[in-house]
Amino acid sequence: MAKLKWGMIGGGEGSQIGPAHRLGAQADGLFEFAAGALDHRPEEGRAYAQRLGVPADRAYGDWQEMLAGEKDRPDRIDLVTIATPNATHFEIAKAYLEAGFNVLCEKPMTMTVEEGEEIVRVARASGKICAVNYCYSAYPMVRQARAMVRAGEIGKVRLVVTNFSHGHHGDATDADNPRVRWRYDPAMAGVSGQFADCGIHALHMASFICDDEVATLSADMASTIPSRQLEDDAMVNFRMEGGTVGRLWTSSVAIGRQHGFDIQVFGETGGLRWASEHPNQLFYTPVGGRTQIIEKGEGGLHEDAMRLSRVAIAHPEGFPLAVANIYCDLADAIRGEPRDGLPNAADGVRSIAAVHAAVASARAEGAWQDARPPMFR
Ligand code: NAI
Repeated sequence: MAKLKWGMIGGGEGSQIGPAHRLGAQADGLFEFAAGALDHRPEEGRAYAQRLGVPADRAYGDWQEMLAGEKDRPDRIDLVTIATPNATHFEIAKAYLEAGFNVLCEKPMTMTVEEGEEIVRVARASGKICAVNYCYSAYPMVRQARAMVRAGEIGKVRLVVTNFSHGHHGDATDADNPRVRWRYDPAMAGVSGQFADCGIHALHMASFICDDEVATLSADMASTIPSRQLEDDAMVNFRMEGGTVGRLWTSSVAIGRQHGFDIQVFGETGGLRWASEHPNQLFYTPVGGRTQIIEKGEGGLHEDAMRLSRVAIAHPEGFPLAVANIYCDLADAIRGEPRDGLPNAADGVRSIAAVHAAVASARAEGAWQDARPPMFR
């Protein structure tokens, strides 16, 4: 089968997420790195793309030049990944969807709920895929957790508790470092700092595993480093449409926690626990029974978890292969065989609506808010 052609915007040299996309997209021989506008500095972007093997005529200076160069090519890209800073996602995603390209957009998909709803509408009208990179949902053991919930193996879910709390912005003497500062500057980051950056991964994960959507929420947000205008810590209580009670803590000042993303799901007949720092194990406890460790790659997993387990049991798999799983599901979807589970623009706008609801709640001393975008109420 011919490889699909893949292009990337952002993710230039030294960027945080760029390497994970390049490893993920090319891990399975499904995509060829055909085009790129990788950097906000045109010459650096062109040079870096060529060093990565992109042909010179498809190593572009910016995303507009890439759109103009690709749209009429007979061998144009099948998929474009948008891995630029948040405020640029809307404009780029909209332009590429309108031109008939499939898109994988980094989170948060947009800055406002209105923009998010617009992306959902544009994606629907174009008939193209707009996926959002909630890549943690593609770890095999997260897919196993979701399948177990769907199969009723822990009964009706009563409670979900999730954290995405790290300590990497906890040093007040480093708060003015430009790489850190912009995340708490409303002009650059929008209405929310840590919740929009990391909290939405945890919120999406809760919806994904519980197979339910967040309906309402109440939030407390704090800037524990006083010079910050946006929160570096948030505690969010939520309720899902199916009645599940949710608790979420997200922080960037939790010194000693490293990646710090974990989730526990408590049902009527059992509980599940997963953590991103040990992604190959899922802990399962049946009511009245002992805790069992379910391993990636072992026999008897649910089909989706088995399919996405790459190497033999007990051999570590990690973040780039979770991203690769997103690209596998994208390749299937582009070839007309979509699978359940690929995060999409609807997930993207639900996250943004939750961010805005959390900010409104925190400003109103925790008053409960509708967390859904108007189009899904
Ligand atoms: P970064 O600041 O490390 O890198 C951004 C890159 O985009 C740089 O190479 C920069 O030159 C380039 N760039 C900026 N504006 C551009 C433009 N207009 N056109 C082309 N290139 C441009 O940022 P980082 O941390 O890699 O984040 C990028 C996006 O990925 C953000 O939206 C972030 O939220 C998301 N992200 C997602 C993660 C996940 O787990 N899904 C993890 C880390 C980041």
